[in-house]
Formats: sequence, structure tokens, C-alpha cells
Amino acid sequence: MKTVASAPGKVILFGEHFVVKGSRSLATAIPLRVHVVIEPGEGKITFHSPIAGVDAWINPEDLSYGDPRLAPIARLLAFLKEEYGYSIVPHRVTVESRLPVGAGLGSSASLAVAYALAYSAFHGDPLERERLLSASYEAEKVAHGNPSGIDNTIAVYGGSLIYKRGQPPERVNLSLPRGYKLIVADTGVPRNTRRVVEHVLRVAEATWQASQHIYEAADRIIDLALQAIRRGDPQLLGTLMNLNQGLLNAVGASSRVIEEAVHTLRSAGALGAKLTGAGWGGAVIALVEEGVDERVMASVRPLTRSVFSVDIGVEGARLEA
Ligand code: MEV
Repeated sequence: MKTVASAPGKVILFGEHFVVKGSRSLATAIPLRVHVVIEPGEGKITFHSPIAGVDAWINPEDLSYGDPRLAPIARLLAFLKEEYGYSIVPHRVTVESRLPVGAGLGSSASLAVAYALAYSAFHGDPLERERLLSASYEAEKVAHGNPSGIDNTIAVYGGSLIYKRGQPPERVNLSLPRGYKLIVADTGVPRNTRRVVEHVLRVAEATWQASQHIYEAADRIIDLALQAIRRGDPQLLGTLMNLNQGLLNAVGASSRVIEEAVHTLRSAGALGAKLTGAGWGGAVIALVEEGVDERVMASVRPLTRSVFSVDIGVEGARLEA
């Protein structure tokens, strides 16, 4: 008997990094989903994720593991046991996903959320959203150190959210201006979210008298972005993406490969382009008018691993039939 749960990936449209120190951020769920399949097993918990290249085990007795990449999942299981009373039993886990790993599209959070939902349902007692949020946040802390919580929140709730640390997420009805597309270009350069976040925090703290105004500007961008979206104003939305990219560059989250991708996209006709997620590699997003989207995507293809357009605001974590 198989139990299957899925959770969406995400793009942060505005406010990554600044959200770690309390500014607001705007994120949306994208249709690239992580599916976790759980089946009964014997002896160990076996974990097979072709996209991440992980084929490893966790010992259900003491939650030791054979691959450090399973540390977040082991922590999640410990939390389910200690906080919510789930027993830890042998099982087989298979991850089915097209969401690139390490690209800033939320793969670790989507995996934690889908796994927590699948494992709890496997026990006949699927976690409700608040508990799913708490359990997946434990895994995210092990993976990333000091996460704001935006990634696992959007993976749980789906849709589009304004997220501010320590406050309930605010759902927003978000659609792109008519006739425009959101493009994701994955540079394929792997990066470590924890290290980029630590670097940006160091820059911010060393320069706080000045950089606090950058954090404040990033927060204000959210208001203007919501206005641009409500008015269906692609020019303003694109300009705000460029402004946000400049702020991210200022605090040290950008890199040469990102700047090259961003400038290539803009030169080919994107109204706005910025990194999404942690930066130093990973993915870049761009707002592009339909009709020039093929040309814009072709322009950046030589610099990237993959380029695609995405729908936004898709459904959050769910059990699959
Ligand atoms: C990573 O997807 C987003 C960051 O803002 C980190 C975080 O919010 O935890 C860079």
C-alpha cells in the first residue's frame, strides 16, 4: 500500500534575504511539485531521491543516518515522535520531482513538507497545516541554519503569500499582468543557502546604520508591487524587480553568473529580472511579454541549465489519491 503526498516549489518574487531580518516578502507557489511516495519496509528507512542523487538510509531505532543530506529528515522524524507522538517504523521513501535541487526554488522545504504529510498519513493520522508547518520548519533549520520560514510556509499553504517573520502569512490573490509571463532561468550553479544567508547577515550587521534603509526599501517594495499587480502595470512591476535585484546585489547576494543572466534577460526584452531564493547561483526570474518570451528565453539559454515559464499561485501540500 502506497501513501503519496506532494508539495509545490516556490519563487520569491520580492524580499528574499530581507525577510530574514523582519522585512516582508512576497512568494508564490509554482507547479513543479515534489512527490513523496511511502511504502512499508523492513529494518531501515530507505530513502531514494534520483533528482538529488540520494540513495541512503535512516535507522528507525536511533535516527542515525548514512548520508548527511538526510539530517533534516532525521530531525523531522525526531520532532514527529517527540512532539506529536508518531512512532518511527521502517519504510521505503521514493522522491519523484522535477524541481531542481539547490536552485532557490524551495526543493528542501517542499521535500520536508511532502514527506511530513506522507509519513503522518502513512500512520493514518495526516498532520494538519499548523503542525505540518512546525515539523517542516525543524527540517529547514537543520538544512539552512536561520531560515525565515517562508519556504516551508509557501510549500504548505500554496497560493501567493506576503510573509513576515513571526506573523501569520497573509494570502494574496496574485496574477501576472495580462499578456505577461514569468520566466525562470536556472543558472545550474549550486549554492549553499546557509552560507549566503550568513554572508548577507554579516554585511547587514557591519553596515546597519546604512543597510537598515536597504531593508526598509525592500519592505516598501512589497506595497508598490501589490499596487502594480492590482493595477496590472507590467512596467512598474518590472522596474520593482530590477530595484529589488539592486538591493540584493548591495547586500552581497548576487554573483557574476546572476548578473550576467539578469542583464542578458533585460537586454533581450524582459521588463524586470532578479535572482530568486538565496543567490550566488541558483535561479533568476524575469517578467516578459508574451510574443517576445521565446526570444528572451533563447537569449539566456547558453548561460543556464534550464529555462521555462511558470504559472503561479498553485495549490499547497496535499495527499495524492
Ligand atoms: C531562501 O529561499 C530565502 C532566503 O530569504 C532565506 C530565508 O528566508 O530563510 C534567502
